[in-house]
Amino acid sequence: QQYPDTPAPAATPAPTPAPELFTWEFATDPYPAYAWLREHAPVRRTRLPSGVEAWLVTRYADAKQALADQRLSKNPAHHDEPAHAKGKTGIPGERKAELMTHLLNIDPPDHTRLRRLVSKAFTPRRVAEFAPRVQELTDDLIDRFARTGSADLIHEFAFPLPIYAICDMLGVPREDQDDFRDWAGMMIRHGSQAAGGRSTSSAEGGGKRTGSPRGGVARSVKMMRGYLSELIHRKRESLPAEPGPGEDLISGLIRASDHGEHLTEKEAAAMAFILLFAGFETTVNLIGNGTYALLTHPGQRSRLQQSLARGERALLETGVEELLRYDGPVELATWRFATQPLTIGGQDIAPGDPVLVVLAAADRDPERFADPDTLDLARRDNQHLGYGHGIHYCLGAPLARLEGQTALATLLTRLPDLRLAVDPAELRWRGGLIMRGLRTLPVEFTPVP
Ligand code: HEM
Repeated sequence: QQYPDTPAPAATPAPTPAPELFTWEFATDPYPAYAWLREHAPVRRTRLPSGVEAWLVTRYADAKQALADQRLSKNPAHHDEPAHAKGKTGIPGERKAELMTHLLNIDPPDHTRLRRLVSKAFTPRRVAEFAPRVQELTDDLIDRFARTGSADLIHEFAFPLPIYAICDMLGVPREDQDDFRDWAGMMIRHGSQAAGGRSTSSAEGGGKRTGSPRGGVARSVKMMRGYLSELIHRKRESLPAEPGPGEDLISGLIRASDHGEHLTEKEAAAMAFILLFAGFETTVNLIGNGTYALLTHPGQRSRLQQSLARGERALLETGVEELLRYDGPVELATWRFATQPLTIGGQDIAPGDPVLVVLAAADRDPERFADPDTLDLARRDNQHLGYGHGIHYCLGAPLARLEGQTALATLLTRLPDLRLAVDPAELRWRGGLIMRGLRTLPVEFTPVP
């Protein structure tokens, strides 16, 4: 395979020193650093806060090709980890005890088999049928603060919506969903700590049953997995012979078969866990980053409001894709490991080296997008990499789109004069190795009775 598949300009000598990555300034606005990397060091070996060295790939053409390159494995067992870093790198799934057979950790043929099975249950049709419930959840959350005239949209809206939505879809009973909210909150906090961030936000749930914030993370993951395993076991025992209308996703996962083969109970539990894990912080940040971008681009926002008032959906649909391109939730959560020597963008990569495709950098590449730093909700030529590319392309993209479109359209329609309650410079971002999103988003609006 050749990199890149479209010719990119040669890296130019840098007139300024390399920008510092993984600082507060970087979390607040990583795009100048990404522009520097694309231009001067498009495939750059970088020491991550955990101490691990990884290659950052920042140009669109290289990034797209790397995401689909079968010589780059998703299995962390291929990582050539220095002995001193064993178990401490922060690479998802590196600790053998934690290693699970889930889609984001495996390669073909195992990946092909599992993805085929889960795709039979998690279908675009099942997601479309879930649309009224997402609308209901969205309205319920807005009802809780609409009369007050102010809210923290992360804590009160963007955070709970995806967790309740995926819990509902999986078939987690409503009375248990607040536990998931707490466990998920702990995991978000863990993400920011792994990236060297401070944890100051109240947006992460109360930790009702999980004790102190730091000690609670491992327990949260364990409790979530334990709960899901038990739920799957119970549902399997009482699965009706034929699927009823609106059957939940866990039952669908148990039922799914391919040439007579089913998911084992363990595989179904790992799958339910990865759907929760891959699907909540990403969507929190799509809603948070997206709302922030709209509030800080009044011209674009009022175009969208006018088109919603006319009952049109086209601008909403292209708009959510553009918000993903412009300031998407996933920065670097795309670990891969070289299984053989290869060259990306003229740079030799050794077997065992970690490679991180920086989606947010690729999606602002001027070689691919006209005016990449401009937010244009009507952008048509928008093959962004926000959902990845190739065999690991986001399985939850239809659900993420549904949630993103419902959340933004409902907010702008029900709270038409929504505005930031603080200066943007006061906002704090949770950034780093995996996701980038706001810790809080204080807003004001005319109270709605
Ligand atoms: C994979 C982004 C929402 C489930 C991915 C990947 C990206 C991504 C970039 C590929 C990672 C890689 O190649 O290394 C996003 C974004 C979302 C979102 C930006 C929200 C805006 C969701 C939701 C779900 C979900 C709601 C499920 C409920 C998954 C799964 C995979 C995945 C299971 C692994 C697919 C595979 O390996 O075959 N996502 N995601 N995602 N996503 Fe999403």
